Amino acid sequence: MPQISQRLWSYHHKKEDLRHTAIFGCESHDGMLESRFQTLGHPRHQVVQENGSLYRIPMESINLEDKLSRFTDHWSPRIIARLNGQDVKLAKFSGAFDWHSHRDADELFLVLKGAFRMEFRDRAVDLREGEMIVVPRTVEHRPVAEEECAVLLFEPAGLLNTGEEPTSDRTTSGSWI
Ligand code: NI
Repeated sequence: MPQISQRLWSYHHKKEDLRHTAIFGCESHDGMLESRFQTLGHPRHQVVQENGSLYRIPMESINLEDKLSRFTDHWSPRIIARLNGQDVKLAKFSGAFDWHSHRDADELFLVLKGAFRMEFRDRAVDLREGEMIVVPRTVEHRPVAEEECAVLLFEPAGLLNTGEEPTSDRTTSGSWI
């Protein structure tokens, strides 16, 4: 282990709980070191390791209004939290999205502001503020918003919004804000 890592290891032994040390004590590449520093500097964040990837869980409130005010574009989800391999995302919808499906993922949509319609090939479901829907895997769907609306999504991390369809200029798995 590099020297800095050893110092942090002993720091954790003295100051932090052993669970932390178990997570941070073994690896040494740059990302891991950065995460150690972030954790030391920001004790309200807990770094979690899952399936070889690391992410931070902020142990403080996440204000949805504030997060929504940070972007204006449509059909471009922003990640605001990650837990158990799933992402919590915010998105703004306006107009019609691409028809698509997800082979291995169910998708949750919760309307925060406004309203939209979830279209399926054989019917549609209107969703108003405070309502949500779960679209099962493999089912073709497209959200349509007559007017701009704000939606919270909950789905597996890395899921592409256009599913298994050919990628388009709207294809994304989201970016953190
Ligand atoms: Ni979808």
